[in-house]
Amino acid sequence: MEEKVARLREMVRESDNIVFFGGAGVSTESGIPDFRSVDGLYNQKWKYPPETILSHSFFERDPAEYYRFHREKLVIDGVKPNRAHLRLAELEAEGKLRAVITQNIDGLHQAAGSRNVLELHGSILRAYCSRCRRPYPAEKMNHGQGVPRCVCGGIIRPDIVLYEEPLDDDVVRRAVDYIRKAEVLIIGGTSLNVYPAAGLINYYKGDKLVLVNLSETPYDNYADLVIHEKIGEVFSQI
Ligand code: APR
Repeated sequence: MEEKVARLREMVRESDNIVFFGGAGVSTESGIPDFRSVDGLYNQKWKYPPETILSHSFFERDPAEYYRFHREKLVIDGVKPNRAHLRLAELEAEGKLRAVITQNIDGLHQAAGSRNVLELHGSILRAYCSRCRRPYPAEKMNHGQGVPRCVCGGIIRPDIVLYEEPLDDDVVRRAVDYIRKAEVLIIGGTSLNVYPAAGLINYYKGDKLVLVNLSETPYDNYADLVIHEKIGEVFSQI
């Protein structure tokens, strides 16, 4: 690992155009389970498969059950940014990192001080009415009881991308632009299983594609450097 981390440290030292693309594995060291690891969310037993509950049609059909899952599994109180989040915020402040592109909805990159964060799947720290789109404080949704309702009678929903829903065009356009122009693209804590998010990394044209992930991913063979270690550990050394 030493030699690989030294190579990554060198890439970071030499560049002022780094882009980070991350997933749930960035937040596991903050106590938030990821989705597809053995102890991940999708391997926990629920009345319905979590991928079903986190879909647009399920939210419409059974909002009460959606909110039971949301409050029990998506909202984890007291979580703090970890060494990976903090180092990324430092690299941005040092003028080396241009953007964090994340699939996570936990807001931990912003909590760590990152300013340019593109949330491909939105955030559970924002809510709005599914009928009139009036914005609401997330508190009412994340810690209330039952199905939260807007003054117009519509159901209040999280500002996240549920399955069957499209990603935000503007966020995708900006993410592609950063990736296309990046000198160094560091991908961390993601199984690269979910599209269109995972497909965005195909826009990278450089020769410094780094993968920091505990397990193998379908993109390992395309990377210029692969480090199968804990991202917090690796980032504390670069
Ligand atoms: N350090 C490095 N890698 C880690 C760590 C860690 N501390 N912890 C977990 N990982 C790795 C796991 O090995 C796994 O490959 O992070 C990856 C997490 O993959 P997933 O659980 O599939 O999460 P993610 O890739 O973010 O899922 C993408 O799927 O369900 C949707 O919307 C959801 O955004 C999510 C998307």
